[in-house]
Amino acid sequence: MLTKRLKTDRESYDGSIREAARILKNGGIAAIPTETVYGLAASALDEEAVKKVFIAKGRPQDNPLIVHIANIDTLSEIAADIPDGAYKCAEKFWPGPLTMVLKRTDKIPAIVSAGLDTVAVRMPSDKTARDIITASGLPLAAPSANTSGKPSPTSAKYVIDDLDGKIDAVVMSGDCRVGVESTVITLVTSPPRLLRPGAVTVEQLREIFPDIVVDKAVLSEPEKGEKVASPGMKYKHYAPKTETYLVESDSDSFAEFVNAKQDAAAVCFFEDGERINIPCIFYGTGKDEYTLAHGVFSALREADTLNKSAIYVHAPSKSGVGLAVYNRLIRAAAFRVITL
Ligand code: TXA
Ligand code: MG
Repeated sequence: MLTKRLKTDRESYDGSIREAARILKNGGIAAIPTETVYGLAASALDEEAVKKVFIAKGRPQDNPLIVHIANIDTLSEIAADIPDGAYKCAEKFWPGPLTMVLKRTDKIPAIVSAGLDTVAVRMPSDKTARDIITASGLPLAAPSANTSGKPSPTSAKYVIDDLDGKIDAVVMSGDCRVGVESTVITLVTSPPRLLRPGAVTVEQLREIFPDIVVDKAVLSEPEKGEKVASPGMKYKHYAPKTETYLVESDSDSFAEFVNAKQDAAAVCFFEDGERINIPCIFYGTGKDEYTLAHGVFSALREADTLNKSAIYVHAPSKSGVGLAVYNRLIRAAAFRVITL
């Protein structure tokens, strides 16, 4: 299939939004920008369209999708028994990078939630995403627009690298502002539980849910056969082809360690730069985790293109949005952590 490139410069914008909406209303699938990562969207009300998303990504059938809305009134159509806390979160964090898992209504076909009786809902803040949702008049099911298992796409180029010829269109916008996927919390358990960290931090969520629990799968590897609250957490994820290691250390020890490696690449902080003698890709400054979130997935993709025998990544702190970056990296590294 020919994948249309829909541009979003001033002259093309309105036409591209209309075309993306038309494709989605007709049961097609289109990659759209959001503030976190690009999403591969389909009508959340159309079982056949949602099937196409699973196929294009090569996504396991038991991994549910997030439904994207642009208007708070849509929430009660797709979710039931909505607790007060959900509205408090919506008021504080929507539109933005927070996904809430709630009870699902029959309006959303089971395939969207991989058969679970819950549904994950998010209201993105990206203008283009919101305009497409509004123009389509649909809630949109959208996982990240990468091939399953690969790093999530933070620019249209990476979407095309993975999905060209497999989807109807890519809405071409700039780099995603946040760079890691949304925070996922479930409100169907008591107390609420953080399933995936993101730019809305645990520290911020504690202001609404003082007793929120961080699921243990956030930082540790699920045991074989263990039931996980968020099916996405059990799969190999975000992984470059090259064997990747996460290295916890200060700048000096990190440099000394990687400089002794033959045929390796480093993914590191700007401030490590001068000390490192092997090929390296910078992903931000260790002093500001937001820069690391913004750069982490493209750095993993770029490091992979160097075709080295190993990639060593300088680990971020686990506080604030650093927890989200650490969570993605530990999976990219298949839980291979080296502490210096
Ligand atoms: O920022 C984001 O969330 C991006 C953009 C496109 O919105 N989307 C995204 O989707 O990251 P995806 O499919 O790559 O990740 C969705 C995560 C998975 O870990 C999945 O298991 C979890 O959310 N999830 C979805 N529905 C769920 C449910 N009903 N219960 C528990 N976890 C759920
Ligand atoms: Mg994903």
